[in-house]
Amino acid sequence: MSILNVEKLSHGFGDRAIFTDVSFRLLKGEHVGFVGANGEGKSTFMNIITGKLMPDEGKIEWSKNVRVGYLDQHAVLEKGQTIRDVLQSAFAFLFDLEAQMNGYYAEMAEADEERMNFLMEETGSIQELLEHHDFYIIDSKVEEIGRALGLTDIGLDKDVTELSGGQRTKVLMGKLLLEKPDILLLDEPTNYLDENHIEWLKRYLIDYENAFILISHDIPFLNSVVNLIYHVENAELNRYVGNYEKFQEVYEMKKAQLEAAYRKQQQEIEDLKDFVARNKARVATRNMAMSRQKKLDKMDVIELAKEKPKPEFNFKEARASGRYIFQTEDLVIGYDKPLSRPLTLSMERGQKIALVGANGIGKPHCSNPSLEKSLPSAAKPHWEIISIPVILSRKRNIPIM
Ligand SMILES: Nc1ncnc2c1ncn2[C@@H]1O[C@H](COP(=O)(O)OP(=O)(O)OP(=O)(O)O)[C@@H](O)[C@H]1O
Ligand SMILES: [Mg+2]
Repeated sequence: MSILNVEKLSHGFGDRAIFTDVSFRLLKGEHVGFVGANGEGKSTFMNIITGKLMPDEGKIEWSKNVRVGYLDQHAVLEKGQTIRDVLQSAFAFLFDLEAQMNGYYAEMAEADEERMNFLMEETGSIQELLEHHDFYIIDSKVEEIGRALGLTDIGLDKDVTELSGGQRTKVLMGKLLLEKPDILLLDEPTNYLDENHIEWLKRYLIDYENAFILISHDIPFLNSVVNLIYHVENAELNRYVGNYEKFQEVYEMKKAQLEAAYRKQQQEIEDLKDFVARNKARVATRNMAMSRQKKLDKMDVIELAKEKPKPEFNFKEARASGRYIFQTEDLVIGYDKPLSRPLTLSMERGQKIALVGANGIGKPHCSNPSLEKSLPSAAKPHWEIISIPVILSRKRNIPIM
């Protein structure tokens, strides 16, 4: 029995076709990796199956009573909401039920016997539902997921618009996991996540009993959690059984086979055309030429996908800078609180620097012992916030950071 059935789906933006007559099926327990190059239509597909976008053509059918949780690549969090608010909103439907139940209780004072019986029955079944969905332990559920994702360290009362990219992803993910949907749709969930939490999510998805569709450009991550690949390319969608590595093998083989068949056919076409050109004028060979021409006309010509334009980068070269690109002395960065201890750093010509660290690395308190070691010591009261100076390249006065 399929959970989701997509048939003959076509969609385009303007004159660009994103999907042409594609089909897709999701079965129970399938862990699908949805892959393809940037801009091929992966997020668009998610938006279509979740009803956010109406396709130009096609049928989308979810099985009955299935609850879908979608981690949107472009989800927006509203100012004024705390982390706790967002996590609790996973239970919004239970709060609605509670409000309804309280309304019924208020009505009881003046209800006649018949109405009273109805109200008793209704409140009873709502009560049961609330208990079943852990309504009375929501706070501890919220705390639990907050701890697992490292959100408690940031403070659950923090406004969500003040979060870093990784912290934001964790809040959205936490909400999703609290909703306990039957199906997870994840659009690039590892973006912004630090190493520890990517590892955490990986284990979570490996053990996940229900089906999910995962879009990710993080190949090792994808490879370890999926058992099926759907590949979108040139408005087509193809299914490959196995993980990403297996897909790549089969895909390369198919591509090589197609190219070989294409070359063979092109040679045949050339030979036929040549034969026709040389023989159509002569009476003796005209019939033969005509029959070759017929063959040519009937031929199912193989087409190769057009090579996608490759991006080109051109950096204007400035004259070599001096030895130091920038230097800092006791530089403290932060917002309303310092995020670093005083840093005395320099960058020299030719150095290639990677800035690494866990999500929320600048917090003064952290309960994760493995992170603790790499954190700056607790903020000292005499620290001052200073802005990062903009450093100008000597030659052109262009800010370089
Ligand atoms: N609302 C829209 N209106 C017009 N064009 C759109 C719209 N949304 C997406 N597109 C275009 O459709 C194409 C597919 O976009 P989509 O976001 O689905 O790509 P994607 O496969 O998710 O890429 P990425 O890997 O970069 O996230 C892109 O060319 C994009 O510019
Ligand atoms: Mg996308």
